[in-house]
Amino acid sequence: MTRILSMTHMVLAQEGNLLNLKVQQIPMPPTDSPLAFLSRLIRDRRSIKPFDMDATREVDRELITALLENANWAPTHGLTEPWRFHIFQGDARRALSETMQRIYREMTPAEEFREEKLKKMSQNPLLAPVVIAWCMERHAGKIPEIEEIEATACAAQNFFLSACAAGLAAYWSTPPLIDTRDFAKWLGLGVEDRCLGLFYLGWPKEGLKPTAGTRHPVLEKIRWVSQASHTQG
Ligand SMILES: Cc1cc2nc3c(=O)[nH]c(=O)nc-3n(C[C@H](O)[C@H](O)[C@H](O)COP(=O)(O)O)c2cc1C
Repeated sequence: MTRILSMTHMVLAQEGNLLNLKVQQIPMPPTDSPLAFLSRLIRDRRSIKPFDMDATREVDRELITALLENANWAPTHGLTEPWRFHIFQGDARRALSETMQRIYREMTPAEEFREEKLKKMSQNPLLAPVVIAWCMERHAGKIPEIEEIEATACAAQNFFLSACAAGLAAYWSTPPLIDTRDFAKWLGLGVEDRCLGLFYLGWPKEGLKPTAGTRHPVLEKIRWVSQASHTQG
């Protein structure tokens, strides 16, 4: 199974794993099992920002669609499948960049306005060959909104891991403007739908060095509850 990892990610995986030894982590499963493969993929996945993507190298639509097919298999309460993908490529990214700049200028109070933020916002869509507005389409019925958001986030992680396995760089960004009615309208979303993030996608620049991931030990986050008489406090 490791054969489906690209060379880039084999290197990322090996080096990332060495770096991970610096923090206290549950060790990798020792065998060449599906769990070992998946654990490596999950632990070595890193956010790679548009600056580190090759803006000149396109990502095939077939590949993007295959990654989104994996997103489409996320768990979904009531099978509402609320995820929707608005994919910007080519010149459409410029329109996205301009819209983001306009909304940022309009919504940001003068004392919070940051020129560097505006610059980054304008450049990011042009540095990544693909930008996906990751949206939740709200369904009438019994499923609460938060569960449709959660399902859409599960789809995002499926996508992220799939992109990583394909050797692609990806980065989920959430500037506050994406959750405005103005941006939702520009995307053509319904009144109860929401854009949860912008997924930047591209091939990593040649020779890009892996960065180390860090997480606090999972043991700090676990509370085993095994007594029937358990009470809080
Ligand atoms: C819901 C969500 C929103 C995020 N939004 C941003 C963001 O707006 N800007 C940013 O720099 N990173 C954002 N990130 C990425 C995190 O910064 C990143 O996951 C974190 O630094 C850990 O790095 P890793 O993904 O390489 O493990 C977001 C991640 C998630 C899950």
